[in-house]
Amino acid sequence: MGKTPHILIGREKIALRIAELAARIKLEYAGKNPLLLCVLKGGFVFMADLVRQLDMPVQMDFMRVSSYGGGMECSGSINVGQGPGIPLQGRDVLIVEDIVDMGFSLSVVRNFLSQMQPASLKLCALLDKPSRRKVPVCIDYLGFTVPDKFVVGYGIDFDEQYRYLPDVCFLEEL
Ligand code: IMP
Ligand code: MG
Repeated sequence: MGKTPHILIGREKIALRIAELAARIKLEYAGKNPLLLCVLKGGFVFMADLVRQLDMPVQMDFMRVSSYGGGMECSGSINVGQGPGIPLQGRDVLIVEDIVDMGFSLSVVRNFLSQMQPASLKLCALLDKPSRRKVPVCIDYLGFTVPDKFVVGYGIDFDEQYRYLPDVCFLEEL
């Protein structure tokens, strides 16, 4: 059974919103040396666009978290695959994530990272799907709130497909 992607948030709208987020981040991290920590794989396009709109020196690192086994539902077990390589102690860390859904991934990531004693730990997420939240998550910088639909594109996958789509789309069963 095939699934057709439909545009939910177009690329122009995404770019405008990222410019707004970047302006806020630039202001709030002025004079600091923030470390932007991208949660792979879904956050990679967002991270790339965000840092290029930031217009300030930042450092970047990447970590792997797997939560979705291959379908649309969370497998329940969240694994931190590869942690950050740059030491976080005393750093102003900004997590860059694709989407917060039930909240399990981010609470695991936050607990994991806070043990490394960063000076501050904040979250920047492109999308929020609050209707399905099971664990509370504080999103400091949010792109868009989305309805309870499975989204893909702009780095976000379904079963490792659709990450290349330039817009945030939802999948409709045929
Ligand atoms: P949570 O633990 O339920 O918050 O899961 C968050 C992670 O699941 C996100 O970082 C995504 O990688 C993935 N995820 C959640 N919702 C979607 C979706 O609609 N499409 C694709 N991946 C999703
Ligand atoms: Mg993710």
